[in-house]
Amino acid sequence: MPTTASAPAPIRPPGPRGLPVVGTSFMASRDSTQTLMRWAKTYGDVVFYRFLNLHVYVLFHPQHVEQVLLGKTGNFVKGMTSRANPELFGNGLLTSDGDFWRRQRRLSNPAFHRESLVRYADITVEEAARLLEPWKNGEARNIHNDMMNVTLRIVLRSLFGSELGENMRIIEPALDAIMVSSSGFHSIAFYLGIPTPTRKRHFRAVAELDKIVYALIARGRETLKTVERSTASTAGAKDLLTLLLTARDDDGNSMSDQQLRDEVITLLLAGHETTALNLSWTWYLLAQHPEVEEKLYAELDAVLGGRPPSASDLPKLQYTDRVVRETLRLYPPAWRVFRRTQEPLKVGDYLLPAGSNIVLSQWVTQRDPRWFNEPDRFNPDRWGEEAAAKLPRFAYFPFGGGPRVCIGAGFAMMEATLLLATIAQRYRMRLTPNQRIKPLASITLRPKNGIRMVLQQRAGASDSRAASG
Ligand code: HEM
Repeated sequence: MPTTASAPAPIRPPGPRGLPVVGTSFMASRDSTQTLMRWAKTYGDVVFYRFLNLHVYVLFHPQHVEQVLLGKTGNFVKGMTSRANPELFGNGLLTSDGDFWRRQRRLSNPAFHRESLVRYADITVEEAARLLEPWKNGEARNIHNDMMNVTLRIVLRSLFGSELGENMRIIEPALDAIMVSSSGFHSIAFYLGIPTPTRKRHFRAVAELDKIVYALIARGRETLKTVERSTASTAGAKDLLTLLLTARDDDGNSMSDQQLRDEVITLLLAGHETTALNLSWTWYLLAQHPEVEEKLYAELDAVLGGRPPSASDLPKLQYTDRVVRETLRLYPPAWRVFRRTQEPLKVGDYLLPAGSNIVLSQWVTQRDPRWFNEPDRFNPDRWGEEAAAKLPRFAYFPFGGGPRVCIGAGFAMMEATLLLATIAQRYRMRLTPNQRIKPLASITLRPKNGIRMVLQQRAGASDSRAASG
């Protein structure tokens, strides 16, 4: 409905009504991603819904995504992201806002600079080799567990200069418990504070993670003291934990243990599961697309010839990079983004009042046939330079965008490409029979019961031992 100078812009776009009093929410549905997709088809690019007293606008058009992420109009805060799991993320980088966030971001940025990434690339390749050591031709594995394990080791060593040994076994089940409580119906019960067993498991899991993280901080403080006592130089690339531990505000105060805990837990969670998911979904897609697999192998054989990859190979691993990008399009680990506008916001024909909650969905926008030809097809070639340049900005935003863009985007792309290159040189994977792989839309988009794969050693890979060199 076009607006004129005399008629004020309407504030209520079309959308599902839901139940009286309660309203509705896509998070409450059995299949949140499909619900969002259906809403987009039924109601268009701007959808309104109400859940209890929350007024929510879902924006699917790339221009509207841009408007929100770049924050040109209105003044956006994280909104539901920070309110959903305060006990988990606290006031860490993902959920904080304003000047406080700006300071913490500035402080963390150096840990993601190019020199640091080269160091993380070496760790990635070492950990990939360690992952492959026990693998055997013909065995079936839950490949998602493997990917979670390897990315956790990588983030721990890269950002915190630490290995957690036995604690690794606590982190994964704790994360599982947290993800269950943040999906579908459970997330609504959680939001409403209903004391379910899932909620109890969630808080137990957060307490277990806290214990591990506080130990990590204590160990970091000890290491720092030892370095200071030994008068060894602390110059050079510092890991994130050291940067956070040595940071001082204008009054010379350092961060409290609670704030350090919030930052560390955020990085630990944001920095490993997302990349693991990207790889798990990549193996799943490759297993069903032998034509893509063959092109990938051709590139790996030509560029690497059986040796382990390194950061300097990345510019040559173009097809490998496109496989990663295309998986991020079809299975975006971060499948929706929340914001709240603090000022009225004009979106298309509508004027959203200050205080409106906003949802953007990578899942829906990145599968929109207006921007992507044959959107459901796994086609890494669509990321050729020419085709990619024609895409509207923000038709694809797996890492978000604007000031709150993922701080680990470069790290994640490097890590995923090197892991894929190392593993795919050695193995082809096939899904074990009678499996239904179902995405569980929680904080991230994860395969509900993991992904079981049978390993098939690639011809010629046995003698080259590509990854263990
Ligand atoms: C494939 C992997 C990844 C994906 C898809 C992903 C996705 C995202 C997205 C969409 C956001 C923006 C959220 C928003 O706007 O509300 C974000 C933010 C963030 N990500 Fe990632 N991420 C990935 C990997 C990583 C890694 C490896 C790290 C760290 C090691 C990381 C740390 C963070 C942090 C700290 C933020 C908050 C940044 C801020 O607000 O300043 N992420 N990520």
